[in-house]
Amino acid sequence: MKTIETDILKVLISEEELHARVLEIGARIAADYEDKDPLFVGVLRGSFIFFADLMRCCPIRSGLDFLAASSYHQGTSSSGVVKIDYDIKTDVAGRHIILVEDILDSGNTLYNLTGHLRDRGAESVKLCVLLDKPSRREKPIQPDYVGFEVPDEFVVGYGLDYADRYRNLPYVGVLKPEVHEK
Ligand code: IMP
Ligand code: MG
Repeated sequence: MKTIETDILKVLISEEELHARVLEIGARIAADYEDKDPLFVGVLRGSFIFFADLMRCCPIRSGLDFLAASSYHQGTSSSGVVKIDYDIKTDVAGRHIILVEDILDSGNTLYNLTGHLRDRGAESVKLCVLLDKPSRREKPIQPDYVGFEVPDEFVVGYGLDYADRYRNLPYVGVLKPEVHEK
């Protein structure tokens, strides 16, 4: 059987490492937000697996919602303009938001989404990202909770995609170069 694993060059973060780290982050958020009834907001689609695992490791009173965003690209560089394709349905006025994303790269997406949620009256907005690529940052933005710092390599799996594929890999890995050169 041909599986998606054949396209993977190397495993960067194993299932065990992911699970252990998600447990730690969930416990920290639980301690920080114990009495705050936070709203977890997942950024679709990349965060969906991390989001589901994180929620199950954070046993406090909380709500959840999702949004989807896309960034416009001009030529090879990100324009920094982010469009909200699907917005949350929950009223965020006065709520403490934990924005959950797969990866913080240039920072354009989360910078814009944070502003959007603040404009709508959120009491606080904190960022929880599975992966951080600080070397690529274009916006002044830092994650509040981060799973792993990664080098400037294109990674897939555990929700992260290449052309909407490989999200279902249970670990985070690097694609073989011939796969994205195709
Ligand atoms: P930013 O707005 O540049 O921070 O980019 C955020 C989005 O780019 C993420 O939500 C991902 O969808 C995508 N992205 C950035 N780097 C990677 C990667 O290495 N693998 C998969 N997706 C990535
Ligand atoms: Mg994404």
